[in-house]
Amino acid sequence: MMFELRMLAYRFLKMFMKPVVKLVPQPRPVVFVGPDSAPRLCRLIGEFGFRRVLIVTDAVLVKLGLVAPLRHALVSQGVEVALFDSILPDPTYPVVRQGHAAAVAHRSDAILAVGGGSSIDAAKVIAAMVTSGKTPEKLLGFFRLTKPMLPLFVVPTTAGTGSEVTVAAMLTDPVRHEKAAVVDPRIVPAAAALDAKLMQGMPPHITAATGMDALTHAVEAYLNVWPNAETAYHSISAVRMIFANLPRAHANGGDLEAREAMALASFYGGLAFTKAYVGYVHAFSHKIGGTYGVPHGQANAITLPYVLDFIKDAPYAEARLAELALAIGAGEPGESQSGLAQRFVERVRELNRQVGIPERMAELRSSDVPMIARAAMIEANRDYPVPKVMKLGEAEALLRRMQPAPA
Ligand SMILES: NC(=O)c1ccc[n+]([C@@H]2O[C@H](COP(=O)([O-])OP(=O)(O)OC[C@H]3O[C@@H](n4cnc5c(N)ncnc54)[C@H](O)[C@@H]3O)[C@@H](O)[C@H]2O)c1
Ligand SMILES: [Fe+2]
Repeated sequence: MMFELRMLAYRFLKMFMKPVVKLVPQPRPVVFVGPDSAPRLCRLIGEFGFRRVLIVTDAVLVKLGLVAPLRHALVSQGVEVALFDSILPDPTYPVVRQGHAAAVAHRSDAILAVGGGSSIDAAKVIAAMVTSGKTPEKLLGFFRLTKPMLPLFVVPTTAGTGSEVTVAAMLTDPVRHEKAAVVDPRIVPAAAALDAKLMQGMPPHITAATGMDALTHAVEAYLNVWPNAETAYHSISAVRMIFANLPRAHANGGDLEAREAMALASFYGGLAFTKAYVGYVHAFSHKIGGTYGVPHGQANAITLPYVLDFIKDAPYAEARLAELALAIGAGEPGESQSGLAQRFVERVRELNRQVGIPERMAELRSSDVPMIARAAMIEANRDYPVPKVMKLGEAEALLRRMQPAPA
C-alpha cells in the first residue's frame, strides 16, 4: 500500500516535468556520415585547433585495429594523443575516475570517444568531470553540470545506444549493482562520425543486441504519452530502418549499406528518446543489467515483447502500435487496431528469433523477482511518461513469465 502511494506521488510529480522537458534546449552534434567519415572528423579536430586529445575507448577495439587509423589522423594534424583504453561494458565510477585522472595528467583540451555506448558514456562523464571538478556520483541526476564540459567528439562503433546524440550517460555502481544516469543537455557531444566501416567487424550477437536496443528506444519513445511531431518521425523512421536492415547486418556484417542504415536508425532512436524518454523495458533492463551483467541491448531485446504484450490494450498504445505495424508493412490499413497492434508485437518476436535473441532471460532468479520489479517500478513511475500504469504485482508476473521454462 505504501509502495503504491509512493508510485502515485511520483506520477503526480512527473506531470510537472512535461513543460520542463519541452523548454529545455536539446543541442545536437554536428554529424558526419559515410565511409571514412571517422578519420575525416579526426583530421578536423586538429584543424579546429585542439592540440591535446585523449582517446577514450576499450581494449577490444584497440586490438581489432579500429583505433590506430584515428590516432594517426589526429597525429597527422600535429595533435598530441593519449590513449585511455580501460573501458569495459557498463562503465563504473572507478573506471571513469581513472579516465578523469588520465585526462588531467595529459592536460587534454578535447576528448575523442571511440566505441559503443560504454565508451561514449564514460567519455561524457570524464569530459564533465574535468570542467566541473565534480565526482561521478555528484554528476548523477538532472542538470548537475554547471559549466560546459570539455569538447567531446564521438565515433560510435555499435549501432544501438544513440549515445552520440542523447543528453544522458549511464553509469553502474559496482557495489550496489545499480545503473544510474547523468542527464544534462550540456553532455551532448560536439560532433559525431557515423562511419559504418568501423561496424563491419561487429560480431552477430553484438549486432543483434545493440540493434534491438535501438529498436527499443524508438518504440518506447513512440508509445510514450508526451508526443511531439519530430520525435514521432524519428521513431517511425528508425523502426522501419531497423526491421529492414538489422537482419541484413546480422547475416552479413560486411553489408555497408545495412550497417549505415543501422547507424542512422540508432542515431534517430537516440534523437527520439532523448526528448520523449524510454519506458518499462529500460526500467526492467537497467536493474537486470546491473544485477547480472546481461548486456543492455540483450536485456532490452528479451524484455520488449513482454512489455508490449502488457501495454498493447491501452487505447493510446494500441493506436500507436497499429501505426508501427503499418509502417513496417505488417497488415492492411482496414484491419482492426487491436489486430494490427498484435501483428507488431509478433513481428518484434520474429525479429528477435531471426537475429538469435533468446525468448527467456536465463539469468533471472526467482528470489530476485520482487527486488527487480520494485526497482523497475520506481524508475518507470518516477522518470518515464508510459502509456499504462503497471502495478507491482503485474511487474512481478511479467518477470516470472520471462524466466526460463522449467526443465
Ligand atoms: N547514453 C545513452 O543515451 C545510452 C542509451 C542506451 C544505452 N546506454 C548504455 O550504453 C552501454 C552499452 O553500450 P553498447 O550496447 O553500445 O555496447 P558496449 O559499448 O558496452 O560494447 C559491447 C561490446 O562490443 C564490443 N564492440 C563495440 N563495437 C564493436 C565493433 N565495431 N566491433 C567489434 N566489437 C565491438 C565492445 O568492445 C564491447 O566488448 C550500457 O552501459 C548502456 O546502459 C547509454
Ligand atoms: Fe537503451
